[in-house]
Amino acid sequence: MSGPGNLYETPKLLAKYLLFHYGADEEVLPWTFGPKEALGFAVRSVTKLLDEGRVPPGARALDLGCAVGRSCYELSRSCASVLGVDYSQSFVDAAAVILGDGALPYSRLDEGMASTELRATRPATGRPERITFESGDAMHLRADLAGFDVVHAANLLCRLSEPQRLLDRLPSLVKPGGQLLLTTPCTWLEEFTPPENWPQGSTLQWLGRRLSEDFELEHREDLPFLIREHARKFQWSVALGTRWVRR
Ligand SMILES: C[S@@+](CC[C@H](N)C(=O)[O-])C[C@H]1O[C@@H](n2cnc3c(N)ncnc32)[C@H](O)[C@@H]1O
Repeated sequence: MSGPGNLYETPKLLAKYLLFHYGADEEVLPWTFGPKEALGFAVRSVTKLLDEGRVPPGARALDLGCAVGRSCYELSRSCASVLGVDYSQSFVDAAAVILGDGALPYSRLDEGMASTELRATRPATGRPERITFESGDAMHLRADLAGFDVVHAANLLCRLSEPQRLLDRLPSLVKPGGQLLLTTPCTWLEEFTPPENWPQGSTLQWLGRRLSEDFELEHREDLPFLIREHARKFQWSVALGTRWVRR
């Protein structure tokens, strides 16, 4: 189990992530000004990092820490099967309802006691029939998960208590020639990860030391993202995005 108990199981976090993943731009950012390039992160963490030309026919993809599932639709455009795994049962349940029913109502916080009823809607662009969701722990994945063509783990590493457990598992999760798409805002916090498990120095150098024997760093890109707290308060962060190719 990672992180401070059940943070990702709370209705407040669920609503925040439904908006983050499925909200229209103007539902997230109701201003004519602001960091518009930070919108749509769950799509960009795939489109900016995946090399589609390298995805083989029949490709299998794994989205670790998929939350409420938006990136899986993006992966399903080029991959024949996509498995989304998240530790939070309420996130996985919400992702499955959107996948199965096509929509899920939720309440967006506007301020104090004011909110707006919205619907998280299944994206028209993906291939839902290729997607499945299940709950699981990225540090203790079931043994038969192996040999994926694409593994995507967006903003997961610095939410794990023992991120090295996932890094150790990655060489068997990604098949030779396959792509590993990682993003992290490098927000290392004691409440999620004991400091002895933080990178000693820069996260990029730490990833290089841990991955370079089995993976080649092929691309890196800074990816801004915006999480809405309420209509007048936002978290703006910049994730370090990397694409690694399995040797
Ligand atoms: C910061 S969010 C990122 C979600 C999504 N990938 C995105 O980019 O929007 C971290 C996600 O990792 C999940 N998570 C935390 N610990 C996990 C673990 N041990 N195994 C799998 N998922 C985990 C949380 O439930 C949450 O959905």
